[in-house]
Amino acid sequence: MTLDTRVRLGTLELPNPVVAASGTFGHGDELGALCDPARLGAVTAKSQAPFAWAGNPPPRLQPVGAGLVNSVGLQGRGMDHWVTTELPALRALGARVIASVWGHTVDDFAAGAARLGPVTDQLVALEVNVSCPNLSHHGRPFAHDAAETAAVVQAVADVDLDVPLLVKLSPDVADLPGIAGRALEAGADALTLVNTARALVIDADLRRPVLGAGSGGLSGPALKPIALRAVHDVARAHPGVPIVGTGGVLSGLDAVEMLLAGASAVGVGTATFLEPRATLRILDELTQWCDRHGVTRVAELSGALRAPDREENP
Ligand code: SIN
Repeated sequence: MTLDTRVRLGTLELPNPVVAASGTFGHGDELGALCDPARLGAVTAKSQAPFAWAGNPPPRLQPVGAGLVNSVGLQGRGMDHWVTTELPALRALGARVIASVWGHTVDDFAAGAARLGPVTDQLVALEVNVSCPNLSHHGRPFAHDAAETAAVVQAVADVDLDVPLLVKLSPDVADLPGIAGRALEAGADALTLVNTARALVIDADLRRPVLGAGSGGLSGPALKPIALRAVHDVARAHPGVPIVGTGGVLSGLDAVEMLLAGASAVGVGTATFLEPRATLRILDELTQWCDRHGVTRVAELSGALRAPDREENP
């Protein structure tokens, strides 16, 4: 029995649902020798602003019990450098590339997106990263506020790049379906759910935060149940919305869970830090799970979660 691994994110068809999450697969072709990006559904690039940005002071990474807390702060050489240097390198490896843009202001997002105008034929989508928790200058991510999220998405949509727009949202909000709805109304074609959750790691001996920036964002296994809940709630509130479910996916089984919750594709991030080839292993495990369970189309798993059996579990 041949498994059909194709999935759709709106108008975008991917050969399989495994997508490298932004910031975890290098800026360009760094991981190419270890993990063939052409075999992945897509690779999301590290978010770039229309300017170079140094990011936060070290230390920036701290493993915790069930995950990793990072405070990288969106270090990057800027969108122009990415377009001329990193994108061609990634494309040369046959990757389907999702660009990613961030900014301090709404205008920054629009300016960063505009720099992609000459290379849209080399992209399969653009992700709008409004949810990085590591930018202290702004006070809070745009994604914590529905109106601010909508303003950014509208500004990027107005650039009219002719590629699908994904918007990456934060789990640290009271009404994620509401914010997702505003992003969709403003022009988002799909959602990436979720970015890291705000977190703090403390060195008790020093009585100080461990990370140079103070707080950071939690990813890895501890984030998975939160991400599943976020995907589930948004998928129920907005039936049919394409979602890249991201957060703590370390195995093919985790990917299956993310699809069942309502995702159409699955982002893999922290797993790649642990094991550079994790994305391909997860794809293989997902394929094997489908074979074992008589699933002939990966897409049929999306949103196929059953209701709890309340008679057995009163
Ligand atoms: C970072 O660079 O701080 C992580 C990226 C993100 O959380 O969006």
